[in-house]
Parts: sequence; C-alpha cells; structure tokens
Amino acid sequence: MDVFAICDAGSIEKGDAKAFSLSRINEAGESRPFPIVVVRTHANDYFGYVNVCPHGGTWLNIGDGEFFSRDRAFLRCGRHGALFEIDSGLCIEGDCKEKSLEPIALAVVDGDVCVCGIALAEDEGPDPFRDLDDTMEIMIHPD
Ligand code: FES
Repeated sequence: MDVFAICDAGSIEKGDAKAFSLSRINEAGESRPFPIVVVRTHANDYFGYVNVCPHGGTWLNIGDGEFFSRDRAFLRCGRHGALFEIDSGLCIEGDCKEKSLEPIALAVVDGDVCVCGIALAEDEGPDPFRDLDDTMEIMIHPD
C-alpha cells in the first residue's frame, strides 16, 4: 500500500487545519493536482479530505483562507458557506447538503501524518541531498 508522509503531526495545532497542494498519479501515469486539507481535532484525531467543495468545486478555504465556521464546530466553504461535519465530511447545511467531502485515509506513523492508499507524485525536482548520508562526515580543511 502507498503511504506518503506529508507533514510532522505536531505541525498542525489541535483544533486547526492545514492545506496541502499534492500531486497524485492517475491511471495513465500522469501527475495531477491533488489539494487536500488535514484537520486535527481537539481530541487529537486527524481527518483528511480532498480540498474541493462538492457544490462549486472550489477549495474550502477560498477567500480568507479559513477552513472553519465561526464557532469552529464545522468545516466551512468560503464561497457560499456550506457547513461540513469535521469527522465525516458530510454537508449538513448549504447548497450541497447531504453530499460529502471526499475523505482521504490518513495514519500517523512515527510522528508524521501520512496519506494512505493513494499514489502521490514525489516532490517536484531532484533533491540535491538525496545521495548524502546522515552519517557522512563533512571535512573542513584548514588552509
Ligand atoms: S462552492 Fe462551496 S458552498 Fe458553493
């Protein structure tokens, strides 16, 4: 199964959410934009959804960048104000009522939030440090 670490679990505050612009590989082997939002609840659960509103297809945090309703009890689309349950993604109020955000399976592994079961494209561009080993010693030669 594909498991991709996307961020340090502690980098999202409890009760907050973070957007990620990922790329996923489609069936034709092409890389396609894959925007997601990861929510960390006060109970320390992590929920992931594709960051696309089922109503208008925009990202939820359009406008002011905010993911939550004013009381922070629901996810909220910034365009027309649809409200979604945080733990299910179900729209309970708004133009897409009864529809759901597309859930993403997440797991926290070794302190990292990981996306499971989706083939993500690796980071763009080669990593110049990929071939360096942590244990490699760097020698500084005095003149
Ligand atoms: S686009 Fe999200 S509620 Fe209309």
